[in-house]
Amino acid sequence: MDFLYQVTRPLLFRLDAERAHDLVTAMLRTAGRTPLLPDLIRVLYAWEDPVLAVEWAGLRFANPLGVAAGFDKRADLVDALALLGFGHVEVGTVTPRPQPGNPRPRLFRLPEDMALINRLGFNSPGMVAVAQALRARRSRTVIVGVNIGKNRDTPLERAVEDYAATFVALAPLADYVAINISSPNTPGLRRLHERDALEELLRELMRLNRHLPHPRPIA
Ligand SMILES: Cc1cc2nc3c(=O)[nH]c(=O)nc-3n(C[C@H](O)[C@H](O)[C@H](O)COP(=O)(O)O)c2cc1C
Repeated sequence: MDFLYQVTRPLLFRLDAERAHDLVTAMLRTAGRTPLLPDLIRVLYAWEDPVLAVEWAGLRFANPLGVAAGFDKRADLVDALALLGFGHVEVGTVTPRPQPGNPRPRLFRLPEDMALINRLGFNSPGMVAVAQALRARRSRTVIVGVNIGKNRDTPLERAVEDYAATFVALAPLADYVAINISSPNTPGLRRLHERDALEELLRELMRLNRHLPHPRPIA
């Protein structure tokens, strides 16, 4: 693993950060569909031990290590990431309608700080495409969270409608739902932290949640 990282990192760092992401995820996708390779990857990388299990909100995670939102915005890497041993994958952020996000370049490496500046701006294929991808999943072993947001061109006064539409489309296909009101890359989004706006949003999502056959934890 260490060797693999030492060899691939310098090569990937020659590419623009987003191109490197696209390349690696395309390889992951292909590996997940190649006969026998998934079993090999699982044996090499996944570590199963009941001592690692974690419970949260009635969900049982095989281990506490998950992939945060932003890596798999299309929800088509869930199975491949599960093979690598992650206990959960949070897909998204997903917006109701497809949107391209900010113009490239929009990801910047800060190698000295071992950090990355992200200005993606909710590039999303939209909730319909993500719903399709979640329905097409083969394995059901890993916990899947769906992280939802609003479209950039939806006025803030109508933000609740965006979250509600995405919630209705995707919550039934996920184990939990995360509400993204913190991205600095969608103008005004953080105003949803204000008490009245947040109460209105949470009240509506909890109302919709009660109508599901199995209500989902909301984070
Ligand atoms: C390139 C990139 C894209 C991200 N996109 C999202 C996103 O779409 N939605 C979200 O809720 N968080 C997003 N995040 C934030 C991550 O989910 C995570 O919270 C953040 O990277 C902090 O975790 P870390 O310290 O393990 O990196 C993104 C982060 C990065 C680096």
